[in-house]
Amino acid sequence: MPAFKSRIESSLASRKAQGLTRSMNVVFAGNQSILEHDGKRYINFSSNDYLGLANDQVLTHAWQQGLSVYGSGSGASPMVTGFSAAHSNLEAALTEWLGYERAILFGSGFSANQALLFTLLEKSDLLLQDRLNHASLMEAGTLSPAKMKRFKHNDVEHLTSLFDGESNHLVVTEGVFSMDGDCAPLNAITDVTQANKAWLVVDDAHGIGVLGKSGGGSCELANVKPEILVVTFGKAFGMSGAAVLCDQATGDFLMQFARHHVYSTAMPPAQAYALTHAVTMVQEQTWRREKLAELSAYYQECLQNVDGFTQTTTPIKPFVIGESQKVVQVAKSCRRNGIWLTAIRPPTVPKGTSRLRITLTANHTKEQVKTLSLALKQALGAQ
Ligand SMILES: Cc1ncc(COP(=O)(O)O)c(C=O)c1O
Repeated sequence: MPAFKSRIESSLASRKAQGLTRSMNVVFAGNQSILEHDGKRYINFSSNDYLGLANDQVLTHAWQQGLSVYGSGSGASPMVTGFSAAHSNLEAALTEWLGYERAILFGSGFSANQALLFTLLEKSDLLLQDRLNHASLMEAGTLSPAKMKRFKHNDVEHLTSLFDGESNHLVVTEGVFSMDGDCAPLNAITDVTQANKAWLVVDDAHGIGVLGKSGGGSCELANVKPEILVVTFGKAFGMSGAAVLCDQATGDFLMQFARHHVYSTAMPPAQAYALTHAVTMVQEQTWRREKLAELSAYYQECLQNVDGFTQTTTPIKPFVIGESQKVVQVAKSCRRNGIWLTAIRPPTVPKGTSRLRITLTANHTKEQVKTLSLALKQALGAQ
């Protein structure tokens, strides 16, 4: 008898015993500020749709237009016949906006990160990653042939101490950390990376669209240009997919050798068409970033004196409660009061730091933030 069945059962039982079992809910309008579940309506503070584009009618129309021109699917991987004018235009819009020579498209941020690290790293390399980097980066680093060391979160001194003076170093950090909503010290990281003749990769999944005057993200805000920038389209762009921005030669190299690029069906051209539209919306519709800033200030005003409040300059507002069981109870109590929040527990975050991951979007209203704060205070008071 193969061990799979017993392995599956014991893993599920152990997760349950730790109170860490996750579930999937069928929701309607999960991409809007009011979602529906089981016949009830909830204010949604869980999505990553920071700019409120995921259900924007103009963007939906652009996708429909793309469908009528290009049809449903790309039909093949990019190197076969899957690469269209829509893909090429999206790449051009991204390179022009973000100031790189090349943009290589991927079906998701997860695959972009894996493709990048697997393709770039060799055995003699030393990969230095912030210890809170996303699972896609950590897993790719662990499985890559390179040696990987993790530096303490946002700790440039610790990062500096890890360079060994001889290896080929690659430093990888997120621009905005997904579970903490804080920003990497990109100026200091760039300085130390350059001083050690290393390359820097910034995964700006949560910063692109949200930070910087034109929405160019963490790097625009910090005025730095890492060798490689990863942007994803599943958050502020309201869609899905990702791009790796880099110089000409690195782009050619990824195009030739990144297996997730060569051996995977290209994103539908209609999606690339709509994403090009989204790039313009993100750049031009500055009111969305201004609205987020206003809501963020109001959130702070409502909750800053409550234990667990964490100040951030991004729409990600972690509310750290500690114990997994307690965070689940608080989330349930909020749910009874019509607020949809996600409880984030280990292994996604370190033990003892279970939290509510509250996210604001440009579609929320101040009244909704007020309702959230009242429900949260009531839930915490009842503990
Ligand atoms: C920092 C970071 N990078 C990459 C990803 C993966 O992106 P995608 O959802 O497009 O696969 C995520 C997703 O949550 C993320 O938070």
